[in-house]
Amino acid sequence: MQTPTLVTVRTQKDKMLANYVPVYVMLPLGVITPNNVFENKEEIEKQLKQLKAADVDGVMLDVWWGIIESNGPKQYDWSAYRSLFQIVQKCGLKLQAIMSFHQCGGNVGDIVNIPIPKWVLDVGETNPDIFYTTLSGERDKEYISVGLDHKPLFGRRTAIEMYSDFMKSFRENMSDFLESGMIMDIEVGLGPAGELRYPSYQENKGWVFPGIGEFQCYDKYLKADFKEAARQAGHSDWELPDNAGVYNDKPDSTGFFKSTGTYLTDKGKFFLTWYSNKLLFHGDQILDEANKIFRGCKVKLAAKVSGIHWWYKTENHAAELTAGYYNLNDRDGYRPIARMLSRHYAILNFTCIEMRDSEQSARC
Ligand SMILES: *[C@@H]1O[C@H](CO)[C@@H](O)[C@H](O)[C@H]1NC(C)=O
Ligand SMILES: *[C@@H]1O[C@H](CO)[C@@H](O)[C@H](O)[C@H]1NC(C)=O
Repeated sequence: MQTPTLVTVRTQKDKMLANYVPVYVMLPLGVITPNNVFENKEEIEKQLKQLKAADVDGVMLDVWWGIIESNGPKQYDWSAYRSLFQIVQKCGLKLQAIMSFHQCGGNVGDIVNIPIPKWVLDVGETNPDIFYTTLSGERDKEYISVGLDHKPLFGRRTAIEMYSDFMKSFRENMSDFLESGMIMDIEVGLGPAGELRYPSYQENKGWVFPGIGEFQCYDKYLKADFKEAARQAGHSDWELPDNAGVYNDKPDSTGFFKSTGTYLTDKGKFFLTWYSNKLLFHGDQILDEANKIFRGCKVKLAAKVSGIHWWYKTENHAAELTAGYYNLNDRDGYRPIARMLSRHYAILNFTCIEMRDSEQSARC
């Protein structure tokens, strides 16, 4: 999650100009408690009225998987969110709803802890390979590994089916708000912190800016997937990288990212293509589901791409590569993502664009 940035509120006159930018304000993270209760109704209503009076267009809110489906598979409880939405509607505000399939807690600005549903974590107790894994075997419980997209290991459902069912339930339960146009945008969470990326730079794992981060593809499902891809390409001997360093390394201290490093070899290129394509397919399939589910509603879909700015001005772009963005000086890693999103009529939401080179070190 990002901390809310300062907004400039416009006058009615500004609004009448053709291209005004609507202003949305992020609701506090804990507005619905981790136990699925809407506390402080009166206080929130008072604040929403103040926002409306200040000419704000709407609010943005995470709809947490870990809260709604916490009681068990397909046992969705929307009641707290519904009463919040009723108040938003009553105040005349619009809503951007985020389908948040990741854990809240452990990222910048996370002040509450909302794990993914307990019955999913329970699957991970006996099978920790459902989570993203580093070379050294460290697991990350923030989001299910893309290696599980088609593995029916959650009851009988795959990860994609769980995300799809959740959105279907939201569509059914919130149909009045969707059809009235109160809900304007649906941002579909596609990974850690809601972003289409791997959890390559987690502060709770000891990562510190500007560490290069680590590849996160060493769970048994992604390992097997890579082996099969390599075999089909006629390179059964190729393995996942074992020379890409650890979270806080500098690019040059690793065999993978140094100049003339593995990333420039055929083997390195094959790996990076595979690694970044896994993300693209992941986003593609979930947005495909979202499009089917929200067909006929007035909403726009959106997806968030992370702004990985450190090591951008090096040859190796190490931090982008570990996050899953195969972007080099002579290879545009963001265009395929933009193309995928545009195929689904989805908005690309990119963070950190307000930052300046001069504010950062680390070849940003
Ligand atoms: C929405 O969900 C709530 C609780 O989860 C339920 O009581 C209500 O009947 C549902 N409404 C619709 C329209 O599905
Ligand atoms: C895009 O992300 C920003 C930052 O998290 C958020 O304020 C905004 O509401 C998002 N926009 C959409 C359309 O989801």
